[in-house]
Formats: sequence, C-alpha cells, structure tokens
Amino acid sequence: MKKIVVLTGAGISAESGLQTFRDSDGLWEGYNIEDVATPEAWQRDPVLVQDFYNMRRKAVLEAQPNAAHVALAKLEQQYDVTVITQNIDDLHERGGSGNVLHLHGVITRSQSSLNPNLTYPINGWELKIGELCELGSQLRAHVVWFGEAVPMIEEAARICSQADIFILVGTSLNVYPAAGLIHYVPNDVSKFIIDPKIPPITAGNFTRIEAKATEGVTLLVKELVNGY
Ligand code: APR
Repeated sequence: MKKIVVLTGAGISAESGLQTFRDSDGLWEGYNIEDVATPEAWQRDPVLVQDFYNMRRKAVLEAQPNAAHVALAKLEQQYDVTVITQNIDDLHERGGSGNVLHLHGVITRSQSSLNPNLTYPINGWELKIGELCELGSQLRAHVVWFGEAVPMIEEAARICSQADIFILVGTSLNVYPAAGLIHYVPNDVSKFIIDPKIPPITAGNFTRIEAKATEGVTLLVKELVNGY
C-alpha cells in the first residue's frame, strides 16, 4: 500500500468551530499565549492555565469532526495513512482516522507535571486542581507548551521521509519544529497544500488547492480514492 502522510493544523478544525491561532490577531480565545500556554504561566497561575484548558476541552468535546476529517479517514481504505497533527483536539480520531500522531499533545488527556510520559484519560471536560498523578504532582493538560520539547518530532520526521504522497492542510507553517517537517518529505513524491490562504512555502512542487478544508480535502480524496 502506498503511504500517505497528512500534516494538519488548526485550519482543518476551523469549520468545526474551533478557533485557529493566527487568524485571531495573536490572541487565543482572548488570552496571550504567554499567560496560558507556557511552563512559566503554569508556575505563575496554575488555576488560570487549568481553567483555560478546561474551557478549550469543553469546546473540543462540543465540536464535531467535519467533512475534511471524515474524508481523510476514507483514505485508509486504499492507503497506509498517518495523520500528523499540530492540533490538540481529537477530531481526527472522532472523524475515523486510525493512525494519528499528536505533535503538540491532545487535550482530552492529562499529564503529570513531573514526568510528561505519564498521561491519563480525562473523563468529561474538567481537570481540577488537586487531581494528582501517580507521583503526587498536579495533573495538567497533555499538551506541549511553548518552550517545551516536542517528543514526537523525530518519529514524525521519519514518517515524512517515507511518504509516497504528502498532504498539508490548514497550517500557516509558522511554528517549528512542526513546520520543518516538510523538508523531510522526499522531493519526488506528490505534494498537496490545502488552505484558503496558502502560506508562503519554501519546499518545492506543491499542488496548491486554494480552498477551505471541507471542500479542498473532499476534492482531493475523490481524486485519490476510487468511488469516494
Ligand atoms: N480550511 C483550511 N484552512 C484554514 C481554514 C479552513 N476553513 N481556515 C483557516 N485556515 C488556515 C489559515 O489560512 C492558516 O494558514 O489554517 C491555518 C491556521 O494557521 P494557524 O492559526 O497558525 O494554526 P497552526 O498552523 O495549526 O499553528 C501551529 O501554533 O499556536 C501554536 O501549538 C499551536 O499547534 C499550533 C501551532
């Protein structure tokens, strides 16, 4: 089976009602990143950070996967698909994708504040101050904050280097190391980028599909999967 690697960003979940990052003039749901998505913020005000991610989690649980998530899942009928996502929502999984790598973690799980490898499922939307990991540290959202390591980046680069087809959806390619993954994709494979505002892209020969994800991904999957 041919290998398809898809790298997605916030844009694929925009039509599910979840905010992207750079379309909202640098604020995330009205907060500065430094106040809610850094280890310093967690040290400074864990209640604010916990509440912020509780609200984000509530929005994720209320959101539904859209036609783009569902179309990507259909690729698995004919291809060996890996979805590498920068998103912390679980809409790819709920849309039917069976092989999802979360570069920046996933909001529906918690993690130990002492050991990021200790992660746990969260039932419902709220993670409370006082809920502790097995080592006794305060549980936090299982997400990668700015300034923290991206543990899955090496695995993601290896996966990209083996792609036969590479698809970029809904990412501004602003944040590293995620954005650097495109340079691991072999030059001679088919590459597509789907975005209503295609970002500047340094790697060559991308077929540009200037469209929203629900239209662009569905269109591309129809080309790639017979009878879709
Ligand atoms: N369909 C497809 N793409 C869309 C849509 C849509 N309906 N709406 C917006 N977009 C595109 C925008 O044009 C932009 O190129 O999605 C992209 C969103 O870019 P960002 O907001 O920068 O999101 P992303 O690239 O995922 O950010 C990467 O930055 O803040 C950190 O950790 C956070 O994972 C995030 C990372």
